[in-house]
Amino acid sequence: MIQLKPMTQLAYEHFCEISKKDYAQSKSKAERLSVHEGEKIAEDAWEKLLSDGLSTPLHHFYSAWENDQNIGMIWFKEERDWETPYAYLYQILIWDEYQGRGLGKSLMKHFEDEVKKLNLKRIRLHVFAFNERAIKMYEDFEFEKTNIVMIKELE
Ligand SMILES: CC(C)(COP(=O)(O)OP(=O)(O)OC[C@H]1O[C@@H](n2cnc3c(N)ncnc32)[C@H](O)[C@@H]1OP(=O)(O)O)[C@@H](O)C(=O)NCCC(=O)NCCS
Repeated sequence: MIQLKPMTQLAYEHFCEISKKDYAQSKSKAERLSVHEGEKIAEDAWEKLLSDGLSTPLHHFYSAWENDQNIGMIWFKEERDWETPYAYLYQILIWDEYQGRGLGKSLMKHFEDEVKKLNLKRIRLHVFAFNERAIKMYEDFEFEKTNIVMIKELE
């Protein structure tokens, strides 16, 4: 049984470090950019999105706990300037040593409950095409693909 708790400042700093690095690596891998380009994009994105860090309005950060173990994190934003208000899921993460035990799915269920409590009617997210595990999890939760971005190298 897992529990969500608001993220502490210390946990936020750790989460940002890991998450930014992961995003930079994933972006470079998926879009065939240099490591440097991936890092630059990640740095700019964090600066733009989270100008007030943990206190940035409308952004929600939770640590996930199983008993007394921190097993993962979640970050999402409320988007209300639309006819159908929604939650944008920026990151869901189960620390490596706890993956593959059903905790990701359990965290998704808790996240959906939080979104419903906020009276948001939809969830949107982006996932890199190579991330088969996450895609499988989202499909199990009945997410549908809305955009597909493609790439081809010319010589
Ligand atoms: C994505 C993530 C949250 C899933 O958490 P998890 O605890 O490992 O997932 P679960 O154990 O709940 O398993 C989820 C499903 O993925 C499946 N799965 C596991 N490994 C897989 C793989 N290599 N390929 C495809 N599916 C896989 C599982 O079988 C399970 O489905 P099932 O219950 O029908 O068997 C976790 O892997 C993670 O933190 N990854 C790094 C961060 C990340 O990529 N986040 C998503 C950003 S969009």
